[in-house]
Amino acid sequence: MSSCFAKQFYALVLVLLHCSASIVSANIQCIESERQALLNFKHGLIDRSGMLSSWRDDENNIDCCKWRGIQCNNETGHVLMLNLPGQFPQQHLKGVINITSLIALHNIQYFDLSCNYFRWTHIPKLMGSFTNLRYLNLTYSFLSREFPYQLGSLKQLRNLDLSFNYLNGELRYQLANLSQLRYLGLDGNSFSGALPFQVGNLPMLHTLGLGGNFLVKFKDAQWLSNLYSLTELRLSYCSLSDTELQSLFNSHANLSTSLTILDLSNNMLTSSTFQFSPSLVILDLSSNNMKSSVFRGSLNLSSKLQNLHSQDCSLSDRSFIVSPTSITNSSSSLVSVDLSMNLLKSSTIFNWLFNTTANLRTFDLSKNMLEGPIPDGFGNMCALQSIDLSYNNLQGEIPSFFGNMSALQSMYMVTIYKERFHLSLGT
Ligand SMILES: *[C@@H]1O[C@H](CO)[C@@H](O)[C@H](O)[C@H]1NC(C)=O
Ligand SMILES: *[C@@H]1O[C@H](CO)[C@@H](O)[C@H](O)[C@H]1NC(C)=O
Ligand SMILES: *[C@@H]1O[C@H](CO)[C@@H](O)[C@H](O)[C@H]1NC(C)=O
Ligand SMILES: *[C@@H]1O[C@H](CO)[C@@H](O)[C@H](O)[C@H]1NC(C)=O
Ligand SMILES: *[C@@H]1O[C@H](CO)[C@@H](O)[C@H](O)[C@H]1NC(C)=O
Ligand SMILES: *[C@@H]1O[C@H](CO)[C@@H](O)[C@H](O)[C@H]1NC(C)=O
Ligand SMILES: *[C@@H]1O[C@H](CO)[C@@H](O)[C@H](O)[C@H]1NC(C)=O
Ligand SMILES: *[C@@H]1O[C@H](CO)[C@@H](O)[C@H](O)[C@H]1NC(C)=O
Ligand SMILES: *[C@@H]1O[C@H](CO)[C@@H](O)[C@H](O)[C@H]1NC(C)=O
Repeated sequence: MSSCFAKQFYALVLVLLHCSASIVSANIQCIESERQALLNFKHGLIDRSGMLSSWRDDENNIDCCKWRGIQCNNETGHVLMLNLPGQFPQQHLKGVINITSLIALHNIQYFDLSCNYFRWTHIPKLMGSFTNLRYLNLTYSFLSREFPYQLGSLKQLRNLDLSFNYLNGELRYQLANLSQLRYLGLDGNSFSGALPFQVGNLPMLHTLGLGGNFLVKFKDAQWLSNLYSLTELRLSYCSLSDTELQSLFNSHANLSTSLTILDLSNNMLTSSTFQFSPSLVILDLSSNNMKSSVFRGSLNLSSKLQNLHSQDCSLSDRSFIVSPTSITNSSSSLVSVDLSMNLLKSSTIFNWLFNTTANLRTFDLSKNMLEGPIPDGFGNMCALQSIDLSYNNLQGEIPSFFGNMSALQSMYMVTIYKERFHLSLGT
């Protein structure tokens, strides 16, 4: 839900932008039919937290362009933006999205009702009549039922975020017409059936989130090969097997040049032979079952990788047998490494890391089986801010060099007996 909080700041910025715009064009007022439309829309909503308190039908408040979340064209006065993201739990709207009441807003381009509580309601079919829409965000809005095919007429749409709702049914031809799409977020719904190959016809797509649905047939994922601009791909909770992932990447040479964020967490990956993109900055492999060696030369750690998350992957020492030549030059950009909840035992892992981690800030090795004293190499991690070595079998004293690490803020060494040492070294 944290995304719902982040958005609030963005909304504030927009409100501020709006204020300054309306000072410049103070004489442009909203159009009466659009003002009525907004008032009717408000009528269908339950607004306990007063999000719409500026939407009032009184003489001192006649210009709806100044209402919260509304932005108008500064020359024509037409409403361009309806930007009302909620903020759980304090602030949100409830009730129904009565699109019929908004139909007068022909020019609207930006529509955001994310993080509100429209439980038991659905995406209105009439949404398809706002053909100027460029941005539609209904994430975390408790919407259910199918994705209405009418949305296929939103040919100008650049951003479509429907993630984390209860939407179901198959996704196919609805997507084919959305050729301007840059961002498609469908994660965390209950879409089923074959993965829509139409996604491959969206040449400008840079972010695709499909995680956590019941989509099948990743094996024939030929559609991916056209997505030259894809930079972020989210495929967590997709029941992906090794062969599916293999075919996904082998057949898509072009992907490897653009992809920077790849989320493969919570799948069924077990093996080691993936050739990941050298452009990756964030790689999440958490909660897979990688008993064999994922890092044995096959994960050619890119020199750009900053965040590596491999929590709960059944990684063992064998996973870190990297050829010495590949160590030094790889991954010096790493900023955050999470290898918690694996089966690491010896300090092979340290050898791999100490030469490559000048920029490392957070390092989580908790819940492994590490043995022996804490190696001196940690002393070279000049940028380290947070380290977690809890729940291992490490022995000996906490080395004094930690006291010299000026960036270090927190250090967790909780033992198996649940004694807790938390040194806070403020600077
Ligand atoms: C949609 O809204 C959510 C929360 O308000 C935000 O985190 C997300 O980035 C938005 N999606 C897009 C594509 O802007
Ligand atoms: C009106 O809006 C356009 C586009 O947003 C902007 O370029 C222009 O400067 C604005 N004009 C005034 C008077 O605010
Ligand atoms: C939706 O809005 C229209 C027009 O304002 C109104 O006639 C209709 O009764 C509303 N529907 C609901 C379910 O509130
Ligand atoms: C897609 O576009 C074509 C041609 O513009 C149109 O005939 C068709 O109805 C559209 N499909 C959808 C699902 O909107
Ligand atoms: C890769 O992209 C180029 C255009 O950038 C295209 O001509 C080529 O066919 C693509 N290769 C594959 C394997 O899709
Ligand atoms: C790893 O990447 C480098 C640079 O991209 C490349 O030269 C090297 O051949 C790769 N190694 C393997 C094992 O793929
Ligand atoms: C490491 O990088 C340096 C310069 O960037 C290069 O000369 C050297 O051959 C690289 N070593 C390996 C093992 O790739
Ligand atoms: C770091 O790399 C140097 C050579 O570049 C090597 O001699 C040294 O053993 C490495 N240290 C670790 C801890 O791997
Ligand atoms: C800590 O830094 C001081 C001053 O730079 C140095 O004398 C001392 O040896 C360092 N201690 C450790 C344990 O590295």
